[in-house]
Amino acid sequence: MSTLPVVGVIGAGIMGTQIAQVIATAGCEIRLFDATPSQLAIAMDTIENGRFGLRRAVDRGKLTPDEVRATMGRIRPVATLAEAVSEAGLTVEAVPEDLDLKCRVFRDMDEHAPPRAILTSNSAGLPITALAYATRRPSQVVGWHWAQPCAVMRMAEIVRAPSTSDETIALVSELAKRCNKNPIVVKDQPEQWGYVANRINAAVRRESRRVVDEGICTEEEVDQLMKDCFRWPMGPFELWGGRTLK
Ligand SMILES: NC(=O)c1ccc[n+]([C@@H]2O[C@H](COP(=O)([O-])OP(=O)(O)OC[C@H]3O[C@@H](n4cnc5c(N)ncnc54)[C@H](O)[C@@H]3O)[C@@H](O)[C@H]2O)c1
Repeated sequence: MSTLPVVGVIGAGIMGTQIAQVIATAGCEIRLFDATPSQLAIAMDTIENGRFGLRRAVDRGKLTPDEVRATMGRIRPVATLAEAVSEAGLTVEAVPEDLDLKCRVFRDMDEHAPPRAILTSNSAGLPITALAYATRRPSQVVGWHWAQPCAVMRMAEIVRAPSTSDETIALVSELAKRCNKNPIVVKDQPEQWGYVANRINAAVRRESRRVVDEGICTEEEVDQLMKDCFRWPMGPFELWGGRTLK
């Protein structure tokens, strides 16, 4: 990547805030937009002072105070989606998990972003193929699924629709590596919600609940078996919170 792209982040909730922080820390200029304007001040405060924010990174010796100032200076909250994407080389959509809403956002990003810009979605499981064909640039649309806390978790699940070009995959993978993530490219499978990480996660959750509900063993026994048999650091009930596990 010869020059770092300007990145437009759409949706400054839990994920958009953290993604903006990580990509800005990697050196990109960010334009951050949310449909609820008051959310932008909350996002900026979370980036600076939140539990996984930049000041905590100073406390842990990961960043210097100068790097925090420079990173904050690279993030600009903006009032419209058009402003967020008009100079972008790459955009990140992080609005709620609703296909109609995401398609509308992709249409708007397509209308206002430069023709060469890549459009990414942090959807947890919706069809990237549908988002790609909401635009006139389906070869430049790709899923980039993050895990939170984004500053800590290394996952970069790069979801390739049949229309996504090799060049798009290469550029997004390169930026993900620059953000200190491990990009793994998986195929979009529009018939099924979830890509790979969430499908496997869902299967483990389902089966863990089932063996307990069938009276085969207790939650604590499931946890102990998984640690002893597969060296999992935690069992599923410890990880996902006991009785709420479905
Ligand atoms: N929360 C997680 O752990 C997690 C993990 C991986 C992926 N995801 C995915 O990330 C996406 C965002 O999730 P989240 O947890 O950050 O949700 P969230 O509700 O915290 O944030 C969504 C933000 O989008 C804003 N928004 C709504 N419509 C908008 C629009 N048209 N334009 C601009 N902003 C708009 C909302 O005001 C809100 O601030 C979802 O697709 C979700 O499935 C979430």
